[in-house]
Amino acid sequence: QIPVLLDVDTGIDDAYALIMACASEELDIRAVTTAAGNASLYHTTRNTCNLLHLLGRGDIPVSQGLPGPLQRPLLRAPEVHGENGLRGYQFQGEHLEALSPLTAQQQMARVLTESEEPVTIVALGPATNVAAFLQQYPELKSRIRRILFMGASYRCGNPTIVSTFNVLVDPEAFDILLKSGVELHTLPLDTTRHATLTPEECRQIAGISGPVAKMVSRTLAGYGDRIGQKGGCLAQKDGERDWNREGLAHLPDPAVVAYLLRPDYFTRQKYFCQVECKGELTTGFTVIDMEDYYGKSMEERNLWYVDSIDRAGFARLFLESVRHF
Ligand code: BDR
Ligand code: CA
Repeated sequence: QIPVLLDVDTGIDDAYALIMACASEELDIRAVTTAAGNASLYHTTRNTCNLLHLLGRGDIPVSQGLPGPLQRPLLRAPEVHGENGLRGYQFQGEHLEALSPLTAQQQMARVLTESEEPVTIVALGPATNVAAFLQQYPELKSRIRRILFMGASYRCGNPTIVSTFNVLVDPEAFDILLKSGVELHTLPLDTTRHATLTPEECRQIAGISGPVAKMVSRTLAGYGDRIGQKGGCLAQKDGERDWNREGLAHLPDPAVVAYLLRPDYFTRQKYFCQVECKGELTTGFTVIDMEDYYGKSMEERNLWYVDSIDRAGFARLFLESVRHF
């Protein structure tokens, strides 16, 4: 089993990523920490605890992270995820038993200190919590196997033309990850826009019985199409298909868990990346040296950029995960 720690801003697709992670026998989930992003920390924490309870994983400790970015006011995404982060979906009852008194950073420190092997961090929201952890506990860096992050992009953005939500919310935090020296992998929007379910696959989910499939089906309606709607996509200028208008459901965060579980469904390249923290129009843009402009060596490059996904394999894995419960 792979020891992992997930940092999430649950969030509809974060919820789906947790479903995939909990369905897998291959992962040993040591803790889940919550970030502010898609919704306020209040909601992302409740959504996370209630979902883990529904999944029968109320034993996983959950810790709350910081209420907002390191240096900026919080930007949320209510138009995509609703005010409560799940487009109004309500779990039955409140199940906060797993909520730990430790902060997210203390929880990360505990997990990394207690683990015999280095731990993989799966970061599915703004990078705030992980960055704050790296600042507070630099001596534990070597205990991190690698960080898998959802965000960054080269050719398209969302919610702005050039920036992806998780980087835009806290670019200074992502900058800390880039400069940390920890092995960093990202599933950029360029790639996760192909992490989709077809309308037929959504119908198959609607046909699965049980409360988990119901939760997915209910939240997919109105979400899957929406996440792709806003923001620019420069790739379309290259003649690619119009991914915003095909009725496909886009699942960015589950793609990261799929990358961990089935790396053979993906390809990747290592690049040198910097993030714009001061721009007026381009805040959060990830400047990725794809043309090797700087001539950086492999060691100097700081980002494994996952650049393709086997869509059908991904969708199959997601459906299997939902059926698992
Ligand atoms: C990312 O932004 C959030 O809205 C999603 O949960 C995902 O982590 C997609 O750009
Ligand atoms: Ca997320």
